[in-house]
Amino acid sequence: MHGRARPPVPGCLESDRHRPLASDEHGKGAGRIRSRSENSSPPLKAPASRRLVTSDWGEWTEEQVSAIRQADRWRILEGLDGPGPRFGSDRSHGAGLVSFASNDYLGLAAHPAVVGAAREALDRFGAGATSSRLIAGDRTVHHALEDRLAAWRGTEAALVFPTGYQTNVAVLTTFGSGARIVSDELNHASIIDGARLSRADVQVYRHGDLEQAGRLVAEAPGRVLVVTDSVFSMDGDVAPLGGLSEICARHGALLVVDDAHAVFPLPDVDPEALVMRVGTLSKALGSQGGFVAGPRRWMELLVNLGRSFIFTTGLAPASTAAAMAAVEVIDSAEGAGRLDRLRRHTDAIRPGHPSPIVAVVLGEEGAALAAAAALRRQGLRVPAIRPPTVSPGASRLRVSLSAAHDESDVARLGRALAGLVSVQ
Ligand SMILES: Cc1ncc(COP(=O)(O)O)c(C=O)c1O
Repeated sequence: MHGRARPPVPGCLESDRHRPLASDEHGKGAGRIRSRSENSSPPLKAPASRRLVTSDWGEWTEEQVSAIRQADRWRILEGLDGPGPRFGSDRSHGAGLVSFASNDYLGLAAHPAVVGAAREALDRFGAGATSSRLIAGDRTVHHALEDRLAAWRGTEAALVFPTGYQTNVAVLTTFGSGARIVSDELNHASIIDGARLSRADVQVYRHGDLEQAGRLVAEAPGRVLVVTDSVFSMDGDVAPLGGLSEICARHGALLVVDDAHAVFPLPDVDPEALVMRVGTLSKALGSQGGFVAGPRRWMELLVNLGRSFIFTTGLAPASTAAAMAAVEVIDSAEGAGRLDRLRRHTDAIRPGHPSPIVAVVLGEEGAALAAAAALRRQGLRVPAIRPPTVSPGASRLRVSLSAAHDESDVARLGRALAGLVSVQ
């Protein structure tokens, strides 16, 4: 791949990430912030004449496919059988496989209490919620989970959604509309998309840069919302929540924290700050869905204004009940034991790292793909993450650890990684 001129990649891929600086001004800190219009999706990069002239869907499709393929970014789905992390056989290699790719950090997706709760809910409520919650899809199990999540998070109320993605979209479109949204450049795609859909004045700050975030908040003419992942999904690092919440408290801004990947303890937030916490039921809770926790009035507002809540079928009752059972496990002595085990696994790969997501940055896309393939040949599934998900030159292996791994799985991974690179 090195040295080969890349063909244009369709806009939907190129616009995956927030960008705080104009690309030609990337440097150490200097640069301007992109305006709202610059942050919106760029047009497809096919030549203008073709864009206007091609009326043939088949031709258009093949153009898209070949542009992605030529950029070496064509991705495929592969059906693995079972809940993981150990798979008996793998379609492409026919050998046993241990996955270090899932977000089932505490190993609850296949926990008997979690699966049992889902089964009971299937019998009681059926397979689906059958309509949006405001029409006829609201079930007692949704309210039970919302009350439990609010108690768990120490907030007045909570609201569940079919996915974490939809949760971020609803929160940002509801509270961001007519406001300024100040967003970390490495925030998750669902935050980027929610911010775009909100039509807010979106301002992106360099990753973790409190000085820049503070300036963008202070200069805002009206309501301001600061949004950040607490644990960043591709690097596994933690946002400066203390500093961000102090900025918000000083300026009356609302801080929205996305805790999707949060498992280990996080920095405290300023008690004076207005904070809303977004979470997902699909990662450490092992189920499916998303939630937001905060003051009751805000949850009520989301029910009334959040389009990705209103215009979609309610979360499946089985997923809802599974998440509730998972919260109970996490809150028990067993949950504490699972967390300790995850801590030990993480320390075995990168001592003291603040999350179970460990990025092994290798640079070029080819290097990351080759490393992932080499691990795969050893029966270890570790995904290569490359542009547009991360910036060019920052391609990496993304290891995610789980309490469902055992010591020998982790030791095997450690040896295999040491054979490839020295883990940073
Ligand atoms: C930081 C972050 N927020 C939100 C989401 C979306 O959550 P869900 O998978 O429940 O839609 C993800 C998913 O990867 C994520 O990484």
